[in-house]
Amino acid sequence: MKRVHLKPTDPCWCGSGIPYGECHQHADQKIAYYKKRGHIVPPPRLLRTREEIEGIRASAAINTGVLDHVAAHIHEGMSTEEINTLVQEYTVSHGAVCAPLNYEGYPKSVCTSVNHEVCHGIPSHRRKLRSGDIVNVDVSTIFNGFYSDASRMFMIGEVKPEVQRLVEQTKECLKRGIEAAQAWHFVGDIGAAVQQYAESCGYSVVRELGGHGVGLVFHDEPFVSHVGKKNTGMLLVPGMVLTVEPMINMGGPGVELDRYNGWTVYTQDGKPSAQWEHTILITEEGPEILTW
Ligand code: MF3
Ligand code: CO
Repeated sequence: MKRVHLKPTDPCWCGSGIPYGECHQHADQKIAYYKKRGHIVPPPRLLRTREEIEGIRASAAINTGVLDHVAAHIHEGMSTEEINTLVQEYTVSHGAVCAPLNYEGYPKSVCTSVNHEVCHGIPSHRRKLRSGDIVNVDVSTIFNGFYSDASRMFMIGEVKPEVQRLVEQTKECLKRGIEAAQAWHFVGDIGAAVQQYAESCGYSVVRELGGHGVGLVFHDEPFVSHVGKKNTGMLLVPGMVLTVEPMINMGGPGVELDRYNGWTVYTQDGKPSAQWEHTILITEEGPEILTW
């Protein structure tokens, strides 16, 4: 997009049909200003057009439907493979595709991470949900080529109060991270908000994995760390779509990768970990959650 060559009377590059001078010109000038001041700014390819946003919104609506479907059917005694079947069948019956399936060789349609599994747990017939388990179900959908990504925690049967608290406070971390994602603030503000709250609860934040740009591909720039400092990292600009997905550990922050399947990430100390995720759109008026 050669926006620099647009005259104020030209139609805007975003496809709104409105003249550039009344549409994105002001934002483009603001981006140029921050860049000159030494900040990292998003390249134009990270700013979604109105049509693209509608496409991502439609994908996100199906993704939310999948999670609601899981919420309605998840129960004690069920295997994580059965969750995979719920996700696969619902998604396909709505004309969409499960983004995880075959993604970089991933073998299933969803990630199901139980207890001390931090993320990328692989559904299995052998893993049956028992009373006291907490499980993250991480659903990602492709619809008409547009990607969306969200996850929720489910508590099975009677979960220990301190583990319930981890699940609830991790949801609060997500809420605070999203609230920090204001236009013309910075990606580092998201991490700072999550880290401050998680650590104030006595928890630790996983550093090796984070959120990401999403929409036209599964994982795009920027990397959204859940630790960080305010006013650092990439500038947040209206039209960016990204995920916030804090992984919060009850014990230490250390994680390790499953050597056999190459995917599943565990806490090093074996203590439980929780995660919640939304896909959000940065707007002038504040972050908009697309995945509910
Ligand atoms: N859904 C995960 C995320 O939030 C990515 C999973 S990749 C997979 O980024 F291949 F494991 F599915
Ligand atoms: Co994600």
